[in-house]
Amino acid sequence: MVLQAAPSADIEVRITSLLTRMTLDEKIGQMSQSTSMTTPLSGQIKEEIRRGRWGSFLNAGSPQDRAEAQRIALKESRLGIPLLFGRDVIHGYRTIFPIPLGQSASWDPDLIEQAARIAAHEAFADGIRWTFAPMVDITRDPRWGRVAEGLGEDPYLASRLAVSMIHGFQSDSLSSTGAIAASAKHYVGYGAAEAGREYNSTWVPEGQLREVYLPPFQAASDAGVATFMPGFNALNGVPATGNLFTLQKILRGEWNFKGMVVSDYTAIPEMIQHGYAANTADAARKALLAGVDMEMVSTTYFDHLKTLVEKGLVDRRAIDAAVRNILRLKFQLGLFDQSPPVPVEPPAAEALEIAKRLATESIVLLKNDTHILPLSKSNEKIAVIGPLADSPVDQMGTWTMDGRASDVQTPLAALREKLGDARVLYSPGLKNSRDLARDGFEDALQKARMADVVLLFLGEEQILSGEAHSRAFLDLPGAQEALVNEIAKLGRPLVTVVLAGRPLTFHETAAKSKAILYGWHPGTMGGPAIADLLFGDAVPSGKLTITFPRTVGQVPIYYAQLPTGRPASSSDLGIPLGNPVNPVGYVSKYVDVDFTPEFPFGYGLSYSDFKYSNLRVSAPKLRMGGLLTLAADITNTGAVAADEIVQLYVHQDVASVSRPVRQLKGARRVHLKPGETVNVQFLVTTKDLAFYNQRMQLLTEPGTFHFWIAPDSARGIEGKFIVE
Ligand code: BGC
Repeated sequence: MVLQAAPSADIEVRITSLLTRMTLDEKIGQMSQSTSMTTPLSGQIKEEIRRGRWGSFLNAGSPQDRAEAQRIALKESRLGIPLLFGRDVIHGYRTIFPIPLGQSASWDPDLIEQAARIAAHEAFADGIRWTFAPMVDITRDPRWGRVAEGLGEDPYLASRLAVSMIHGFQSDSLSSTGAIAASAKHYVGYGAAEAGREYNSTWVPEGQLREVYLPPFQAASDAGVATFMPGFNALNGVPATGNLFTLQKILRGEWNFKGMVVSDYTAIPEMIQHGYAANTADAARKALLAGVDMEMVSTTYFDHLKTLVEKGLVDRRAIDAAVRNILRLKFQLGLFDQSPPVPVEPPAAEALEIAKRLATESIVLLKNDTHILPLSKSNEKIAVIGPLADSPVDQMGTWTMDGRASDVQTPLAALREKLGDARVLYSPGLKNSRDLARDGFEDALQKARMADVVLLFLGEEQILSGEAHSRAFLDLPGAQEALVNEIAKLGRPLVTVVLAGRPLTFHETAAKSKAILYGWHPGTMGGPAIADLLFGDAVPSGKLTITFPRTVGQVPIYYAQLPTGRPASSSDLGIPLGNPVNPVGYVSKYVDVDFTPEFPFGYGLSYSDFKYSNLRVSAPKLRMGGLLTLAADITNTGAVAADEIVQLYVHQDVASVSRPVRQLKGARRVHLKPGETVNVQFLVTTKDLAFYNQRMQLLTEPGTFHFWIAPDSARGIEGKFIVE
């Protein structure tokens, strides 16, 4: 479904009429976005709005300020052009859903769409009509703090989920009540920041760009996303904000994107630091030529475009084209004839219910030795220990400026509610995840001693992930490992719940824990979701959408790697002992750590078990342009009803460009009662098997394909077909 109606003739006529009446100053005003708004609105801001100085505000003002500012724009500015209020509504507005990386682990497009719809409704009610989401940057580097904001390492899955988010935000029509415009960001390659260091340069060969980094953006464009935002990164030496290749050739040319492009925060003048623009005037010109319609926060457009036009260095038509894109969005949103929004209520029951379901589906069971989970409610006493058991703000995760700690239900609160206060013995042990002081250990140990089971809530606090929060180490920060060591000595069974914005490495803690639930930053309803999972009122079903390394030294590590000429095999597992002269054998691995990940992409356990059998392919051979059905039976062989996320992977044996060892081509979440079998089918067309050849043509080449219908990227039942 394409949401953004093709530019309607009527709207284009109205834009043309406005453009003929607008002064150059008013046009440049439309192209400028500010983040400053005083409460209450100062006389100066009011005057600027009357003069048409701003086209948009971001992350600014109270709902009342926004309503008043809009009134002034509509009623008191010369041409009555409305303002557009944008905000980072990334994973919820007042109701906070799991961080996007967590949401992706649900592999549930419908639920993700519902969550985005709720976020949009809540934001809309506060006068917001534009979000800077979804972030569809593929990253394979958990050091990068913004891994939390993305939808995982896989372009197929990220594309699908991004489209769901866009549908959720934008609804069927941008003008409908509760709809807000979405923005695909950060275009493109930003997630490939070298060494995972925020804002670092990115080097991505075109084939990889087209196969890995561009697809989610193309999917967003095809789905009618209203806006695009170029990234802060230089891609192959050219800043994304001034990149003619990505913004003009690909976005506008190849994809025919008709929406609006907004720069990232002060990214236009940052092209000077990049060494790509000589000064702010040069930066403004380069950004405009690349097709950046609106400038976020910095004022190079305001300061220079008029002079550049007068000097003949910028064509007026480029300005008109940008303003047209901006006005079109304002018309599509219905801002010219807007009715006043309704103030936001505390999270509605339905919003909390969806937030809980999404949190429940996103949490991944990584380990469950001796089936210690689900815990029996008959355990007398439970110790709840760790800095993240009762930390509402941390639980919300990055980008939650409108979430309120007072709405958040923490694991501690939820466990007390489930079991009664008397049975829950709580001690944080550490003040926060980075705390190095051990003065809280004794209390924690005392509580652990009194308990039958110890629940550890470890991980990373909110501010360790997100923008500008890259980490060089992926370990549990602070004295968390030390706390675990002390508690483990008591011999009580340990169950660890990790809350974090990224994959962490916590091998030692994992070894000491009987079970591990990976909760990400699960949002407002994370506590009840975790409590339900721990006690079997819900069954874990999330699966990883990013590979978990054993150690940071393995990064970047991802499942869809190329085979190499000397691939390691199952006989190379473990840390090689060999002899001092040749510890390894000459295959692609490490001398000091196993070459495989700690947990592979797609991995996640359940309280049930599933058998994959009866693999079928509708025909052994497929003609170019044809279609094939790949199917398998999935049986719930366990004792509880549960969801399983069934995955389809494909590999082409020989091609003109070496193909990844596996690529995700389909996924389905199925619900199965104990003993029930479902036949899961995937349709595959030859188009689905296409890739970019050495001449950057998207083609399917004939050959032999292996496929797996699988519980994760490392296992599955395997079949084969041939494309002729
Ligand atoms: C981020 C964007 C965000 C913008 C506005 C920038 O620093 O990179 O993702 O939308 O700020 O807050």
